[in-house]
Amino acid sequence: VYLGIDIGTSGTKTLAMREDGEILATSTFEYPLDSPRPGWSEQNPADWWDASIKGVKAVLKAGKIKPADVKGIGLSGQMHGSVFLDKNHEVIRPALLWNDQRTVAECAEIEKRAGGRKKLIGMVANPALTGFTAPKILWLRNNEPKNYDKVVQVLLPKDYVRYQLTGDFATEVSDASGTLLLDVSKRQWSRKLLTKLDLDNAILPKVYESEDVTGTLTNAAAQKLGLLEGTPIVGGGGDQAAGAIGNGIVKSGVVSATMGTSGVVFAHSDAMQVDPEGRVHTFCHAVRNQWHVMGCVLSAGGSLQWYRNHLGDAEVRQAKKDKVDPYQLITAQASEATAGCEGLFFLPYLTGERTPHADPHARGCWIGLSLRHGRKHLVRSVMEGATYAMRDTLEIIQEMNIPVKQVRLSGGGARSEFWRQMQADIYGKKVVTINAEEGPAYGVALLAAAGTGAYKNVVEACAKTISVVTETKPDNATKKVYNKYYPHYGHLYQSLKGDFA
Ligand code: XUL
Repeated sequence: VYLGIDIGTSGTKTLAMREDGEILATSTFEYPLDSPRPGWSEQNPADWWDASIKGVKAVLKAGKIKPADVKGIGLSGQMHGSVFLDKNHEVIRPALLWNDQRTVAECAEIEKRAGGRKKLIGMVANPALTGFTAPKILWLRNNEPKNYDKVVQVLLPKDYVRYQLTGDFATEVSDASGTLLLDVSKRQWSRKLLTKLDLDNAILPKVYESEDVTGTLTNAAAQKLGLLEGTPIVGGGGDQAAGAIGNGIVKSGVVSATMGTSGVVFAHSDAMQVDPEGRVHTFCHAVRNQWHVMGCVLSAGGSLQWYRNHLGDAEVRQAKKDKVDPYQLITAQASEATAGCEGLFFLPYLTGERTPHADPHARGCWIGLSLRHGRKHLVRSVMEGATYAMRDTLEIIQEMNIPVKQVRLSGGGARSEFWRQMQADIYGKKVVTINAEEGPAYGVALLAAAGTGAYKNVVEACAKTISVVTETKPDNATKKVYNKYYPHYGHLYQSLKGDFA
């Protein structure tokens, strides 16, 4: 049995998996997110550890698993967050999270110190984005110097839990890539950038490959969890790379499109490929010596959620009566409108945008309303807008000569047959869903199995456990309609961007 623990933003999910991939038990324990000021987003690392302890105990009990049966543990988590530890290895202040926006000035400072955006991309493969870790460290130095002076170690969220489990300061390449301090091509910290930022190498943990064992359970941790001392912990992965492993995205040509609140398009790449404009992220993959390219749409499924919350009252009420999921009624209504919504577009930038525009000021809007448009068009255009936004990343990936042969869907957007067909038609690709739906926790359980010897490597682990369950091909006529509308969708942002107040 292998355990996967995913330190998410709303809660920690723990999963127990049998060696053959069968899921024995899962559990989720939630915790709060604090926003002490607009744009700030923080959490208390102690909550993550507490939820991990509860989660492990819960899956052991539910799956009737004996401590000696657990052969390895993998860790995943929200990326980019910063945990600051003092000389007693105590947490100095709440962790700043991936969705925290306070570091605009520090991003500019990093670009300047690096000698410009191009040089920065040359060192760490990515531009400075407010969510990343390096600007958070500089923010502490610029704004809370007393706290900064106490820092002896900076850890990513899942690596703080690793420290509690093993007593070691360690990370792995996929999550480390999102700090903006990793030389993504060499898979080691960028001494060059660290020097330019005047940061001490010693505050960063040792970097491992994702399936390597980074340490073993201490006696104290083993007692808290109800496991055996010495149980190996593998590197694991940032939630996106780990989720991709859980989706079987471990070879070239297979790409995933995950439509959750945010939407992520993730492509495996055998060689390091960087978009010179920095529109997509290039990170190390959790597969040994492989990379990935990823784009993140901030409000993909989130746009439909917004529609449901504010304009879907009638469907929500009806769904309660019929005891069905309101999204079922909402998408049924969308299916009554024709593809392309007779020229009605929805731009899904409700929380600004990351890919491809990296614009925190972008806003959502409907453009192109006419008397002929009604609710069915409003909702269908929301779904189309979110899907066009995902296509933007697919287009960039293809421009970078990364092949896209098959798109694997997951998240809410994969559950409805209607949205699966829309994705096939807008992407112009065959889309499939797979048997595993557990995401990052499953991915790191597979890494734990591979890293402790149950499989040759994680690629073999995926091949033996993951299979395709649905396949949807694009409809040629509808694909043509979307190909006609898609360039207009792209132009709308360009025309409007100066007017988002
Ligand atoms: C990835 C990213 C999010 C977070 C939180 O770049 O910002 O996926 O990891 O889930």
